[in-house]
Amino acid sequence: MKTITFIGNGNMALSIAQGLKKNYKIEVVGRSLDKLNKFENALGVSIEKALMKDYNMEDKTVMLCVKPANVEEISKILSGKAKVIYSVLAGTSVEKLRQNLKPAAVVRTMPNLAASVNRSMTTLTGDIEFQKEAEELLGAIGTTRWLSSEKEIDIATGLAGSGPAYLALMAEALADGAVKQGLKRDDAMAIMRGLFGGFGELIQDIHPALLKDGVMSPGGTTAAGYGALEDGNVRASCIDAVAKAYKKATEL
Ligand SMILES: NC(=O)c1ccc[n+]([C@@H]2O[C@H](COP(=O)([O-])OP(=O)(O)OC[C@H]3O[C@@H](n4cnc5c(N)ncnc54)[C@H](OP(=O)(O)O)[C@@H]3O)[C@@H](O)[C@H]2O)c1
Repeated sequence: MKTITFIGNGNMALSIAQGLKKNYKIEVVGRSLDKLNKFENALGVSIEKALMKDYNMEDKTVMLCVKPANVEEISKILSGKAKVIYSVLAGTSVEKLRQNLKPAAVVRTMPNLAASVNRSMTTLTGDIEFQKEAEELLGAIGTTRWLSSEKEIDIATGLAGSGPAYLALMAEALADGAVKQGLKRDDAMAIMRGLFGGFGELIQDIHPALLKDGVMSPGGTTAAGYGALEDGNVRASCIDAVAKAYKKATEL
């Protein structure tokens, strides 16, 4: 069984390890034995545990799951040339990872919040010879998409990385709208959840424009509601949201 070495024992490391534990041996490198033991308990299978200080990454397949601000610090205490580093660090360039950690290969990955329920939309880019392995490893927490440049992964961060927050705003606002018209809060929330659940399935196979046309009859209720969204510039605001998030990603 191949070993995957996690550096960092936080939420993202645990989500990915949950997806990989059946098919891989898990090794976790952290700052405290206590946290490594808690990680092992949460994972529910036995793992190799190691402390970060003086850890040697030589020829390891590493899943880097610390915070973006920790790269310089950990590169001073880790040694050895990893075979490949799969990094989940937001806004941290392949170049920065290469310069600091000096691995033989790097793949940058961008999971999203749904990793915790195994439904992440994860984008990937980096050394192309590791594309297949990256898709397999990150496929353990949901869907993957390989992109051909870091510019594209920064744009995709503004779509799938930040997307849960955009959709949460829509979800809350629509439920609030129903409450404003007199629906009980519990009912409004249950209906909103059902709406998003069903929509999540439909959008896999049907183009959004066709979904909209399918529900909008001439002069009907949807046309009236949809008109209010157009008046509120929702479409332009969504386009602008991705633009602003992308700009921010390039500034980090
Ligand atoms: N959560 C998400 O939805 C999401 C989505 C996309 C990308 N990411 C990326 O995933 C990465 C990890 O996020 P997370 O949610 O797993 O965070 P987390 O739960 O806070 O875990 C952070 C990890 O970094 C370690 N760490 C913190 N400071 C350190 C230092 N100075 N030296 C060495 N290790 C240090 C922590 O160690 P201790 O346990 O010892 O403190 C912990 O293992 C981030 O880079 C983030 O950009 C997260």
